[in-house]
Amino acid sequence: MKQQNHIPHSTVTVDLGDRTYDIKIGEGLLEALGDHLLPILPRPRVVIITDENVGPIYLPTVTRVLKASGVTVDSITLPAGEASKSITHYESLMDQLILLGTERKDTLIALGGGVIGDLTGFAAATLRRGINFIQIPTSLLAQVDSSVGGKTGINSKHGKNLIGAFYQPLAVIIDLSVLDTLPKRELQAGYAEVVKYGAIDNKEFFVWLETNGIRVINGNRQAQKYVIETSCRAKARIVSEDELEHGKRALLNFGHTFGHALEAEFGYDGRLLHGEGVAIGMVMALSISAKLGMTKDTDAKRLRQHLKDVGMMTNAHSLSSRHNLNLSAEKLFSHMAQDKKVSDGKMVFILGPLGAVCTRNDVNPKIIIETLEQSIHADD
Ligand code: NAD
Ligand code: GLY
Repeated sequence: MKQQNHIPHSTVTVDLGDRTYDIKIGEGLLEALGDHLLPILPRPRVVIITDENVGPIYLPTVTRVLKASGVTVDSITLPAGEASKSITHYESLMDQLILLGTERKDTLIALGGGVIGDLTGFAAATLRRGINFIQIPTSLLAQVDSSVGGKTGINSKHGKNLIGAFYQPLAVIIDLSVLDTLPKRELQAGYAEVVKYGAIDNKEFFVWLETNGIRVINGNRQAQKYVIETSCRAKARIVSEDELEHGKRALLNFGHTFGHALEAEFGYDGRLLHGEGVAIGMVMALSISAKLGMTKDTDAKRLRQHLKDVGMMTNAHSLSSRHNLNLSAEKLFSHMAQDKKVSDGKMVFILGPLGAVCTRNDVNPKIIIETLEQSIHADD
């Protein structure tokens, strides 16, 4: 049997005045959930939202532990996958929550990956004009990114995350042990968001990842804890400085505009994971940065090499050949025009050298289309 709790637990605080909350990181935290949640629940009643993959594995434990602590527990299980971040599933979730008699002092618990976290957070933001919620992220992506910072929402048929709210959780509980059941492809996709933190403003971390990142993918718990804690600290710092994305927070979208366009093209049907799109998008962003003279071509090569080393796709060509689909640069570009970052009709891109990116809204569309074409026709 695997030994639990041999890595010390950590706490990272997201400093937001009277909405400040803690991110607890450690092994075996699900078994100690009562100790962590009872002091912060407005009253001991929760509704756990999970999905059909995570629920069968972890819902029994979470329910047993909370009930043993005197908490009344209901649960709702949704289909797994991005398609659940839709108006249809949101409506059905709200109906179920209302029928369960969920009141303002009750608390929703998101037990799952970023899909469950984003949807539950949005349900919490809008049910009875706002009730509390807690994030228990179970994918690497959710542990390093989506569970922290209060971006909640669902997709519209016109684009990703176009319907949503900034709404912070009461707490984030990260149990490292749950990564043992996460499929490797999901672990790799989540790892793209880890690389993002190095790429945006922490070159030293990127260099560490170049040597050690593969240990995260291979299940080394110390390495997983180090990258999750480093990522959460980075995200907590940025969110504390710029909760509503008036400035620095936009850097967290590095590579995402391209990734979102690819996701839209694949119709959120599971063939392309969010993190896979982000990985390809980050390479495109560095390649545009080199074309604009903001960095050397070697940065894009270095990022590409690292992503390849951990087994990820680095261009749109790999995607289209894997799925036997023709991608068009013009069509991807038109998806990008729907991005939330479009401001005064201008597309905003996160560009620059590895470890020191910034926002730019003056990129010639020809360069974007040319870069999309190159990614679509890349031969590596
Ligand atoms: P996901 O929620 O679909 O989870 C990935 C898959 O892994 C699912 O099939 C899920 O059932 C399964 N899974 C999760 N944890 C598991 C575990 N421990 N064991 C076994 N299976 C497990 O996807 P994701 O990659 O976690 O999140 C992607 C979503 O996050 C996207 O919708 C993206 O837009 C969003 N996101 C939001 C933010 C934010 O700031 N709110 C940031 C980044 C990404
Ligand atoms: N993942 C982007 C953000 O939280 O701002």
